[in-house]
Amino acid sequence: MHNLKYTPAVEKETEEIYHRVQNVITPARWQSMAPLIVEINRLKREKNAVILAHNYQTPDIFYGVADIVGDSLKLAQEATKTTADIIVQAGVYFMAETAKILNPQKTVLIPDPLAGCSLASSITPDDVALMRSKYPGATVVSYVNTSAAVKAVSDVCVTSGNAEKIVEAIESDEIIFLPDQYLAHYVATKTTKKIYAWKGACEVHELFTGKYVDELRAEHKNIVVLAHPECPPDVLEASDYIGSTAQMQTYIEQKQPARVVLITECSMSDNLFAANPNLEFIRPCQLCPHMKRIDLEKILHSLETMTHEVLIDPDIITAARRPIDRMLELS
Ligand code: 13P
Ligand code: SF4
Repeated sequence: MHNLKYTPAVEKETEEIYHRVQNVITPARWQSMAPLIVEINRLKREKNAVILAHNYQTPDIFYGVADIVGDSLKLAQEATKTTADIIVQAGVYFMAETAKILNPQKTVLIPDPLAGCSLASSITPDDVALMRSKYPGATVVSYVNTSAAVKAVSDVCVTSGNAEKIVEAIESDEIIFLPDQYLAHYVATKTTKKIYAWKGACEVHELFTGKYVDELRAEHKNIVVLAHPECPPDVLEASDYIGSTAQMQTYIEQKQPARVVLITECSMSDNLFAANPNLEFIRPCQLCPHMKRIDLEKILHSLETMTHEVLIDPDIITAARRPIDRMLELS
């Protein structure tokens, strides 16, 4: 346990950050967060470390300690550019693995190694081999929400932000799309190519229903509904816009909808509301239990003890790098 105090010096040092999150974090909660933020930022400088944070991280992490924030695509792109010695992944395990695959010489840390993902755990390399034997000649397109071992037996990776584009760009007309059945279904509505889907699902997004979206519309007049493509088809049909977390952010920034709901993990709305206090965000709270394993205490512990280091077999790194590089080239 840390004995870090909320002193006048800490208050002053975090004043600007608090200004950005004051509509989503109460002053009382800030007093317990600010000393951790100061200490994490000091350790980052001392150790030449960067923190990559996904859009689903809580605002204290997102605005307080992260150096790079974004969707899965942006985090992968930025991971190729960093000059830091240490990367701390504030996100889930497959994201930390992607950062390691792109930076095999660097130390990549994840503050909680149990931060998994229902999509990544829904498929193994043996399952991919089974799909290949069932659909010989089809190209294996893997969502980045997969393990390094699954990426290593894939032809190309995609994220929710580029899946449509990459499926169109690759030569093959037959695609094994894994592991998200709903993203596969969404992509299938956008292409004439034949898509063979795996049966995985995101445990957060599959909880939403089209009926729920209809109820939101009835309750909140003139609401604009943005949905993530990991949602089931009836949700997407009932929505006004479908996009990755970064695409939702761009939509909000450019269109400034007066009343909006994001059908996705709820920290995303907190982070956008912090930056757009003039807009009304209806916030149905679906938390990703894996993303929420990461907190300031664990990030600090990670930097202090250099744990938990993400280690991947070098052969897997080499094999998994190919489909990721292919995605980055095509993005
Ligand atoms: P994006 O941020 O790439 O849209 O992904 C959402 C997600 O569920 C990541 O786990
Ligand atoms: Fe995985 Fe869904 Fe959590 Fe994203 S939100 S990490 S897809 S379980």
